[in-house]
Amino acid sequence: MFSRLFELDPALLSLFHYSTNCDSKQDCLSSPEFLDHVTKVMLVIDAAVNHLDDLHSLEDFLLNLGRKHQAVGVSTQSFTVVGESLLYMLQCSLGQAYTAPLRQAWLNMYSIVVGVMSRGWSKNGDDKAD
Ligand code: HEM
Repeated sequence: MFSRLFELDPALLSLFHYSTNCDSKQDCLSSPEFLDHVTKVMLVIDAAVNHLDDLHSLEDFLLNLGRKHQAVGVSTQSFTVVGESLLYMLQCSLGQAYTAPLRQAWLNMYSIVVGVMSRGWSKNGDDKAD
């Protein structure tokens, strides 16, 4: 999934330059910080799936997460690239079970998550401009 991320947008590599060397796609994919972030993303997706009937309960967490990403220089368009990678991974792993309604259901859920993150992102930018 995250290999796909860098195929879709190679410029994202520069956002994952932590303390260790991360000069190539392969360096980055195997760096501990990057793998740690992959786990963090999947925990958020897992929480959203487990709160599908109650996504409002994640609102404050997601607003704050959006703010944090604004602070580290991640654009809201990059959230969309993560979503495309997620759908690609589902398509590859589910094969024929990856139907149009299933794709739409994942897209709806992910759009709500990044919609709230993006609101937090914008709010952080506004606060800095004040
Ligand atoms: C390409 C898009 C993204 C980039 C470049 C990015 C980058 C980062 C960076 C640099 C950090 C801070 C260092 C770290 O904790 O690893 C971070 C934290 C985090 N990211 Fe992302 N991120 C992206 C998308 C996402 C998405 C879509 C989610 C969730 C759906 C997410 C979930 C998290 C979480 C849970 C943290 C930890 C926040 C905390 O410490 O409280 N990220 N991200």
